[in-house]
Amino acid sequence: MAGAYKNTPPAAEDKGAMTAENLAAALAGESQASQKYLAFADVADAEGFPNVARLFRAVAYAESTHARNHLSVLGGIGTTADNLKAAWGGETFEIAEMYPAYDAVAKLQGNESAQTSISYALKAEVDHQGIYDSTLKGLEGKKDLGATAVRVCPICGHTVIGDAPDECPQCGTAGSHFVEF
Ligand code: FE2
Ligand code: FE2
Ligand code: FE2
Repeated sequence: MAGAYKNTPPAAEDKGAMTAENLAAALAGESQASQKYLAFADVADAEGFPNVARLFRAVAYAESTHARNHLSVLGGIGTTADNLKAAWGGETFEIAEMYPAYDAVAKLQGNESAQTSISYALKAEVDHQGIYDSTLKGLEGKKDLGATAVRVCPICGHTVIGDAPDECPQCGTAGSHFVEF
């Protein structure tokens, strides 16, 4: 990919409830396509097809531009303070309502893999909620987040500011595998 290009997506426009619903559905679909293609790229790499992997990554990027444009028209991109509040709200919904309900259904249906996947997500969303909360408080005092690295478990998404633990407390992955941002 070439160097970063300053993204100027289409401006927010509030015209038509059905159009908003359609764009929200398209945002979900494009976001899913982008994620799927990134996962497919990793498979292609593992199977020894690096150029197919490259194609998947390129199209994933294209789909992410579509998702971002739809989000922009829906008015879903604000200032960093707005965005932190929106991000905190999304994580809070997932922790308080969405994943507990999904976990109950997965338990009822005896789907253990789904319970594991949901549990990994729910625990990481708690990390994210806390980090967004403290970051927002700092921003209200006009302070950027410190330069300390953010580290993420590649298996469960457990997220920490600073050093990785010796072993992920949620899934047991060695801290040396954490991805640094
Ligand atoms: Fe697309
Ligand atoms: Fe999250
Ligand atoms: Fe983990």
